[in-house]
Amino acid sequence: MKNTKIGIVGGLGHIGLIQGACLAELGYLTVAYDYNVKKVEEILQGKLPFFEPGLEETVNKTVKNGRLRFTANVKDLEETDLIFICVGTPSLPSGEADTSQVYAAVEEIARNRENHCLAVVKSTVPVGTNRKLTEFLKDNGLSERVTMVSNPEFLREGSGVNDFWNPSRIIVGAQSKEHAEKVAGLYSPPGVPVIITSWENAELIKHAANAFLASKISFINEIAALCEKVGGDIRVVSRGIGLDPRINPYFLEAGVGFSGPCLEKDLKSLISQFQKVGEKAKLLESALEINERQRNAVVHKLQEQLGTLKGRRIGILGMAFKAETDDVRDSHSLPIIRKLLALGAALTVHDPWIQSFQQAGLDEGEFPEVRWVTSPYKAAEGQDALLILTAWPEYRNLDLQRLREALVYPLIVDGRNMFDPQEMQALNIKYLGVGI
Ligand code: UGA
Repeated sequence: MKNTKIGIVGGLGHIGLIQGACLAELGYLTVAYDYNVKKVEEILQGKLPFFEPGLEETVNKTVKNGRLRFTANVKDLEETDLIFICVGTPSLPSGEADTSQVYAAVEEIARNRENHCLAVVKSTVPVGTNRKLTEFLKDNGLSERVTMVSNPEFLREGSGVNDFWNPSRIIVGAQSKEHAEKVAGLYSPPGVPVIITSWENAELIKHAANAFLASKISFINEIAALCEKVGGDIRVVSRGIGLDPRINPYFLEAGVGFSGPCLEKDLKSLISQFQKVGEKAKLLESALEINERQRNAVVHKLQEQLGTLKGRRIGILGMAFKAETDDVRDSHSLPIIRKLLALGAALTVHDPWIQSFQQAGLDEGEFPEVRWVTSPYKAAEGQDALLILTAWPEYRNLDLQRLREALVYPLIVDGRNMFDPQEMQALNIKYLGVGI
């Protein structure tokens, strides 16, 4: 058993639960605290709040061997000496990140303990936050109890457990080397680079990494738009540029754009951090604009083919923001669905892991004229077109002939470039991908 006792705040969120379960698997006694009593009760009965490959097994194992414990009582963190803050930092209407949950978490920890601990910020926070939190603790006479450390997270949803065990790098921002090494020493597999630096650098690294990934996707989507005009094929172009090791093949898949709870939020937050210091983030603003255009483009393609969308029936494949997750938060599917509804279309939706808006944590009333079905073929049945929004692997094996027969008009708009246009053509399906 390892000596450091770990606490997690936001213990039932995506980052918190993966972090807590994997640290417990490593041998640390871990207490995962979440203020959401219902979620804590549910996990105590074995129900995880979301799906993540490999997570359930790790949680079950570590709960059983007593290393992982869940609680809705912050007092249970009193005995822990290193607490990860894994709460949300959602976008405010201005694009700025709302850090109120991070402040509340740090204050709650500090007010509920006598002995000292490290509060390690995993949440993505604007540059300067750890310094301001330190001042906040000082102003409130709490600095003896809590020292801030920044340790940004790079896990991806859908491969979070695997990413935990195979990190590309460990970044720790702290004021003291001793504290930084304590955090870095928790888990740094051999050969994985560790950067120990200032709070500010650590905070910037996280934002810059997500903004770069988002910009890379927008870059390829911009080239895809040109491909459509001049008869290019973005899949070949993307492969051709990705083979250059200075570019690499990752995040070069053109499509309906990036979405989910992180990339867009962090890009907006970084843009607002530029604004705060009187600068304009031209490249990043363009990346955001291009992403918006990608969402509109699939709607335009439907309009071009069907004329008006009023009264048209459109089948949609995929609600989650990407495959291998049941997360719909900030998914591109939502604004696209809203737009299609506003244009008068009636929608039939399929997603392998989501069966209703309610299950996705959304208000059913906000989405009238949407019918959920349990098979992709049912989503095509009697529809005027099919729109693919999430690249679920099972969609790749669909019987295209059957899809064609189910559709009234053989039209497929594919926001994920999942199929071979020639195969579609041979089946007499009008197939419109992105940049092909
Ligand atoms: C992202 C980062 O990749 C993680 O490193 C980071 O830790 C995480 O945000 C976070 O800040 O918490 P995530 O949002 O889970 O992870 O998912 P990604 O795999 O990055 O995908 C984001 C979006 O980009 C998805 O909508 C995906 O479909 C889209 N995408 C990705 C593309 O459109 N094209 C690509 O080539 C790759």
